[in-house]
Amino acid sequence: MGEFVVRGGHRLDGTVRINGAKNAVLPIMAASLLTDGPVILRDVPRIRDVAVMADVLTALGAIVERTGQSLAIDARGVDRFQVPELLMQEMRASIFVMGPLLGRLGRAAIVQPGGCAIGDRPINLHLAGFQALGAEVSEDAGGTLVVSPRLQGAEIHLSYPSVGATENLMMAAVMADGETRIRNAAMEPEVVDLAQFLERMGARIRGAGTPEIRVRGSAHLSGADHTVIPDRIESATFALAVAASGGTVRLENCLVDHLPGLWEYLRVLGCSTRFDDNDAVQVECPSEYAPRAISVYTGPYPGFATDMQAQFMAFLLKVPGVHYISERVFENRLGHAAELRRLGARITADQRVAMVYGGGLLHPGTVRAQDLRAGAGLIIAALGIPGVTHITNSAVIERGYENLAERLATLGADVTCREA
Ligand code: EPZ
Repeated sequence: MGEFVVRGGHRLDGTVRINGAKNAVLPIMAASLLTDGPVILRDVPRIRDVAVMADVLTALGAIVERTGQSLAIDARGVDRFQVPELLMQEMRASIFVMGPLLGRLGRAAIVQPGGCAIGDRPINLHLAGFQALGAEVSEDAGGTLVVSPRLQGAEIHLSYPSVGATENLMMAAVMADGETRIRNAAMEPEVVDLAQFLERMGARIRGAGTPEIRVRGSAHLSGADHTVIPDRIESATFALAVAASGGTVRLENCLVDHLPGLWEYLRVLGCSTRFDDNDAVQVECPSEYAPRAISVYTGPYPGFATDMQAQFMAFLLKVPGVHYISERVFENRLGHAAELRRLGARITADQRVAMVYGGGLLHPGTVRAQDLRAGAGLIIAALGIPGVTHITNSAVIERGYENLAERLATLGADVTCREA
């Protein structure tokens, strides 16, 4: 069991380059199953979830080779439709292979993905969408089997703009006969990046990034060479680390438009942000903040991203005042409040709403990461607390952040990640 050890109280200064987006590259890797042509993906972060997705593709018969920050995927040999149970249990994003396998082999089988720390994570919208495309879905104790010799284009209305369902259904629809309309689709930048990858393969997709996506089915898709978009949540994590520590940091390879809401909040609270036109932003933050009261509501894009809620809560502990956070995407994503209380934070929270009493004196301690974003939030809080704080269960953080300790250390933080 590993842990991050943070000796807080240091300003952060310098430059950090943001990696390719975990939540874009995972569905794009799955989409590579749709072609027997060569796929090259660039700017692929070296994180556990990418390694697991590579294992899933390999288990299905593909060949995945990494060269530096690039992956080469050859899916010519894909002939298996069952996702190995252990890999499914390790990473629920393995469900992204269902759409491509349906399109490629006419069938896909998974064991039901379990819930996780942040919620039950059902896949009913994925399965209902597959049924709308003509697939037969059967579920039993062994798992879920989806079968369709030939997918038929359909109109699908998502009752919630689910990111994963939008992506899975887009990947199935590209091989369906006729046109598919996905209404109330997710608009996240990662959905748009997947659509751009599919279009590079020859798919005909219109409306990605809007609530209605139209897909015209193709008989065959070719290989493609694609650079993954920058990880907006990693950008938010570093920006909030500076906000909690004080200092001036330049984020390179950062698309500021992918983080609506964040920069305005930082400016209102006393930070300054300078965007320059080659995908970079400089964030300058004070070591102390004037009293304010902030309300935050997470929601589907372009709302405030749920994946930066924990990091933002940690930062708000530095802002004197009473702050209100409403987590409206997942039903149990405020668990980090209890961990922050172990560092002296005054937070009252139920499963959906937290009241954060910022500006109080915090103290070092030992806390546990419940998921990768909560863990990032705990690291951010620790950066702002003089003394040594331990954040255990570091493996969940390393699922989504490449060399986080080393990269923070290059900015002047005293952070190490070690086996406990
Ligand atoms: C993606 O998860 C991301 N993961 C999550 O990031 C992110 O928090 C989430 O989108 C929301 O932005 C990846 O892209 C790999 P959803 P996903 O389907 O697709 C409910 C991280 O930290 N729902 O948009 O699973 C669901 O329970 C991770 O990087 C259904 O009810 O998110 C949740 O309450 C965490 N039925 C809400 O929708 C369904 O069939 C949003 O889920 C699907 C979802």
